[in-house]
Formats: sequence, structure tokens, C-alpha cells
Amino acid sequence: MTPIYSKISGLGFYVPETIITNDDLTQYMDTSDAWIQERTGIKQRRWFTYGKDTNAGMATAASRMAIDQAGISATSVDLIVYATITPDYYFPGSAFLMQRELGLEGIAVIDIRQQCSGFVYALSIADQFIKSGMYKTVLVVGSEIQSSLLNKSNEGRGVAVIFGDGAGAAILQATNDVNHRILSTHLHADGRFAEELYVQDPGSSRDGRWITEATIAEGNYNVTMNGSAVFKHAVIRFAEVISESLLANGLTPDDLSLLVPHQANIRISNYVQQQMNLPDEKIFNNIQQYGNTTAASIPIALTEAFEQGRVKPGDLVCLAAFGSGFTWASALIRW
Ligand code: UT7
Repeated sequence: MTPIYSKISGLGFYVPETIITNDDLTQYMDTSDAWIQERTGIKQRRWFTYGKDTNAGMATAASRMAIDQAGISATSVDLIVYATITPDYYFPGSAFLMQRELGLEGIAVIDIRQQCSGFVYALSIADQFIKSGMYKTVLVVGSEIQSSLLNKSNEGRGVAVIFGDGAGAAILQATNDVNHRILSTHLHADGRFAEELYVQDPGSSRDGRWITEATIAEGNYNVTMNGSAVFKHAVIRFAEVISESLLANGLTPDDLSLLVPHQANIRISNYVQQQMNLPDEKIFNNIQQYGNTTAASIPIALTEAFEQGRVKPGDLVCLAAFGSGFTWASALIRW
């Protein structure tokens, strides 16, 4: 039997229209454009508009673009895999809301979290369903509204300046073409570091109700991050998981056409670029424009890279991510 593979046949993204520059943030907290650019590379990010944008609505817009680019009808989608840590409801997940918006009632949907590695995990799940023959067309999405979670006071400035809102999507389709396909995906996690970057509340394992006046007063619904611990692990794991994908396919960093890393911090990307000895044209960064959009960052970056002609048939493209959990993951694609 001819083996079945999966290929990416369509990409799309959506970002809210409101641009928040670093200078804009100085209205809320004691920070500066110089500090933010020097420590993170970020110049601006997008924040959603209440009443206009929702997590699922942004994902729907990104998905429609990916569906159009793939040249398919939405009704040929067999499965949705949706990554987010900022869902519209506590449950059910935003995949249900997007499925409804796309008019795809009845098809399977899977909601996952997996934080900044969410999109690569979702892509891997989709790839396995296609390779097994169970589904032929899978819509993979990463979407985040972070701005309503952020503590925009001085207390939260170490976190608030980094994150932004947006959504990205990809259509994966079954193929027998060994020369244009996802070559492999590699997934990792280490729960020993769960509390290095997390949101504690609301959680179920509480005395009494899961949200009380005390929980609100404690402020543990804010994002808590040990920035330097995340940074130190990220630079090691990014390089490791990229090398793992190349090694698994008998390839080397020289063979790479483009690395699309999760947009966490420009200093992390620069460090990984240096470790892998990649020239500037072999790495894609757009954190300057959008900040860190967690599960949405890779599909937004990949779509922009594609639109700019930096991803062409035959190219070897590596997607790599690291984030809360900790999680880290990569996907190697022969475009
Ligand atoms: O996708 C995974 C998501 N997370 C990450 O990738 C985060 C990885 N970590 C990082 O990117 C960096 O650790 C940060 C950008 C978050 C922080 O950079 P840093 O170089 O580790 O700074 P720091 O937290 O050590 O803070 C240095 C100083 C502190 O002041 P003192 O104690 O030296 O006087 C902070 O209070 O900078 C201060 N600071 C700020 N100043 C201006 C922290 N946040 C800000 C701010 N504006 N927004």
C-alpha cells in the first residue's frame, strides 16, 4: 500500500486592528520603548476590540483564508484541531464555536492547550490522523486573546509587554507525494517546570468554590512567569528539538531553507540562530510587529513568510517552539 503523508496546502492569519506600540504601554505602566526593544525586540502588538473580536472569531477569519488558499470548500474539512490557552469559555473549547461559525456541524473537533508549543502539537496530531488514513483534510488553528489576561499595571509589566493577540491557521491534506510533505514532528514536555509560567486561578482544586473574593484578592488569575528560567530552558530546548528533527531525517542545519521559531523573544531567536549557524535569510522573525502570540505565533509567521516568497516548493522548513509546561516541539517540512 502506498504510504499516506500530509502536506500543508493553505495558510492564513488574522490580527485585530488595534496596534499598541511600546510608547502606548507607558500610559499603563512604568516602561519604555528602549527597554522593551532591547530585551525582547518587540516594537508593537495587537489588542482585540471587545464586541468585535473573539478568540473563535479570529480563528475563523484565519481559517477562511487558509481554506481559500488551499482551494477547497470548508465542507471538505474532516477534523479541526484548535490550540489556545485563552479560550472564549472555560468549556466547551473554542473549536466548537469556530466549527459553528464555519457551518461544519457534525465533524470532529479537538481542543488542545500546550501553550506556546500548541500549534506544533496540533499539527502533529493532524499529521497522525492523516497518516493513519482516518481523515483526509484537517484544519489546524492557533488563536489567542492575551490582552484581557494581562496585568497592565507596574506589577505585571515583566509579562504584559511581551504578549499580543492574533490567530493563524493551516489546512493539512493527505498526499502520496514523498517530495512535498511533513517529514516528521517531535513533541516533548516536562511538567517539573509547570509553575515557571502559569495562571493558577480559576482552578478546580480549591477549598470551596473555584472563584471567591479571596481568589480575586490574591490575584493569582494573573500570568506568573519566571522570565529568566523560561529563557534559559528555551535556548537549550529550541536547539535540541531542531537538531532532533534534522537528525531523524538524515539532514543538517545547512540543509535548512527556513527556520520559523515560535516568536517568544528576539534574543532567544538570535541565540538559536547563532547556535545553528544560520544566516539571516534562513530564519523568520516578526515578533517586532506582533509580540508573542503563543499558539498563534508560528502560523502567523509561517503565513507571512509564505506571502513574502520565503517558503517555496522544495524548501526544507523547520517549525520549532518552546513554552509553558514546559513544552517544546518541532516539525520538519519538505514544502
Ligand atoms: O513563549 C514563552 C514565553 N516567555 C518567554 O519566552 C520569556 C522568556 N524570558 C524573557 O523574555 C525575559 O526574561 C524577559 C523579557 C521577560 C525579561 O527580561 P530580563 O532581561 O530577564 O529582565 P528581568 O526580568 O531580569 O528584569 C530586569 C529589570 C528589573 O529591574 P531591576 O530589578 O534590575 O531594577 C525589572 O524590574 O527590568 C525591570 N523590568 C522592566 N523595566 C521596564 C521588568 N519588566 C520591565 C518593563 N519595563 N516592562
